[in-house]
Amino acid sequence: MKGKTAVITGATSGIGAAYALRFARDGYDLVITGRRRAVIEEFAQKLRQTQGGKVDVVLAELSQPDGVEKLIEAIRYRQVEVLVNNAGFGINSFYQESDLNTMEQVVAVNVSTPMKLIHALLPGMVQRGKGIIINISSESAYLSIPKNSVYSGAKAFLLSFTEGLHLDLLNTGVIVQVVCPGLTKTDFHKKMGMKKAKQRNKGLIHWLSPEKVVEIAMKDLEKNRVISIPGIHTKLTVKIAKVLPKNYYYKLASTFNQKGRGKKKKNL
Ligand SMILES: NC(=O)c1ccc[n+]([C@@H]2O[C@H](COP(=O)([O-])OP(=O)(O)OC[C@H]3O[C@@H](n4cnc5c(N)ncnc54)[C@H](OP(=O)(O)O)[C@@H]3O)[C@@H](O)[C@H]2O)c1
Repeated sequence: MKGKTAVITGATSGIGAAYALRFARDGYDLVITGRRRAVIEEFAQKLRQTQGGKVDVVLAELSQPDGVEKLIEAIRYRQVEVLVNNAGFGINSFYQESDLNTMEQVVAVNVSTPMKLIHALLPGMVQRGKGIIINISSESAYLSIPKNSVYSGAKAFLLSFTEGLHLDLLNTGVIVQVVCPGLTKTDFHKKMGMKKAKQRNKGLIHWLSPEKVVEIAMKDLEKNRVISIPGIHTKLTVKIAKVLPKNYYYKLASTFNQKGRGKKKKNL
């Protein structure tokens, strides 16, 4: 496997870090990205010491075109075998109260950046007849809830985009997969202000570790599954959302994220 490179965006923590460890263990050299310099440098050093491969860190703000360009420049002449589009973040806000610039950044990181990276790397992969692209979407691609409209929309794009890519890339040797995790114990929810104590299992709410998400997704990849929904609870939640009549679904979904909602106005 020497000389083969896996590029993983957003590997400072969580799911991206778990992918980095997985591909390092499988003998890949890594290019990993993040913004928290100290955290990702320390993680990279640990990977070099424990796994032995080459690990390059690219510090890049992936909501900005120059951040994406910096990453593309760093990988342009490398033989990239694997691209994991993992970097992402969400914002808990009613759209009518949201900051448009921030919402555009959610779309940039979750949608435009994966599009640009894939577009940059695909010609080489297709020419070599080999490559793996993994896009990290979310169960939110199937489940709209309040204060999550842009994030859900962005993740739904990734789901649909990956399925389209799968069809475009048939017989090229390039494999694509979209992973739709449910609740996962990472820094994601902390960054949105959720306390750790709230990360408890209850009914269909079931938190997985990022390592488990990656383990299941990689098994699905080996089975050529284009869509991976890790965990039985998440699979069931998605199934229920798919079969529920929309008016029931909206009733159920509207019970989430209610803090800050004003009183119902009477219709004229
Ligand atoms: N955790 C969940 O419950 C869950 C569920 C479904 C899907 N997901 C998806 O899983 C992916 C990984 O998230 P995670 O849960 O592992 O969260 P995490 O621990 O917060 O990791 C997110 C990674 O993305 C990077 N990132 C975020 N915004 C960025 C930006 N503007 N520019 C560059 N890098 C950025 C972060 O870098 P820095 O920290 O260095 O800034 C970090 O490395 C995301 O796409 C997320 O949407 C998460």
